[in-house]
Amino acid sequence: MRIILLGKFGQLGWELHRSLLPLGPVYAYDQPEIDLGDPVRLRPILEQHQPDLIINATAYTAVDAAESNPELAFAINHDGAGFLAEEARRLRSALIHFSTDYIFDGQKGSPYTENDLPNPLGVYGESKLSGERAIEAIGPSYLIFRTSWVYSLRSESFVTKVLKWSRSNENLRVVSDQIGNPTWARVLSEATAQVIAKADQNTFDWIHEHQGVYHLAGSGHISRCDWAKAILKYDPKRAEQITTTIQPARTSDFPTPANRPLYSALNCDLFNNTFGFTLPPWQEALRLALENS
Ligand SMILES: NC(=O)c1ccc[n+]([C@@H]2O[C@H](COP(=O)([O-])OP(=O)(O)OC[C@H]3O[C@@H](n4cnc5c(N)ncnc54)[C@H](OP(=O)(O)O)[C@@H]3O)[C@@H](O)[C@H]2O)c1
Repeated sequence: MRIILLGKFGQLGWELHRSLLPLGPVYAYDQPEIDLGDPVRLRPILEQHQPDLIINATAYTAVDAAESNPELAFAINHDGAGFLAEEARRLRSALIHFSTDYIFDGQKGSPYTENDLPNPLGVYGESKLSGERAIEAIGPSYLIFRTSWVYSLRSESFVTKVLKWSRSNENLRVVSDQIGNPTWARVLSEATAQVIAKADQNTFDWIHEHQGVYHLAGSGHISRCDWAKAILKYDPKRAEQITTTIQPARTSDFPTPANRPLYSALNCDLFNNTFGFTLPPWQEALRLALENS
């Protein structure tokens, strides 16, 4: 299976590069070699490799900056995604794309399923939702995995920030009214690779048969404040911490340019029922991620 991976330096793309290698040649790219904001330059690369599968791990992910850069967010998250779907159809390649819990408004109060109506609160969520819709409209062989609260230990993430704060602050205040599923980039990439392995050599048709949007995130949900507490609990270098208390705060205590959904937990049953497995509990993944850091 010939795979093109876009976004190889991102949190998820970095892990995907490793997880996909056993499945066939992986041709991996990122900025500045490619630019999803100017995707026509990608065409010769796609034609050269004639991929069976295109995996898009690129995105404009700066949630707050997107509020003042909507054109760029839409160029990458909508136009870029649509371009890849067009190219995938033209080359008879399957496409795997990632989307976000931020397409929901956070008002539901129980984990969101794929049947719940999206209603993004900000430009980032709007641009990702319109990217999903562009792919769905073009088809014909795609999987869209909506994930949430992705972290890795090799670049800045909520987990690395909490670890850093714990070395410099005795008291931390962390919002307790945002609830979601923490997702370690490595387990998300390994689950993606397992799905692809099921397709074997028949990638286009197999993905076409299973095509659609699936929620795929760490099992279980938690508030950011309790997630921060768990990060400090599982930190293998606890002796370096000077933090003694973590106090709950409200999202409204820390105004940001973008509104975020307060409750964006994802129900991943459809993925589990379709592909026969699920991501591990978020606590287990966090413990492993920290032990391996
Ligand atoms: N992070 C989260 O909490 C989260 C939550 C839900 C869903 N997701 C989704 O999961 C996927 C992976 O996210 P992630 O956390 O791995 O994101 P990430 O770490 O920000 O990685 C995105 C990658 O895309 C690259 N990129 C940005 N603009 C580009 C462009 N114009 N052309 C080509 N490449 C470009 C980035 O390069 P630079 O670093 O140079 O900009 C980076 O390497 C995305 O679809 C995201 O929307 C993420």
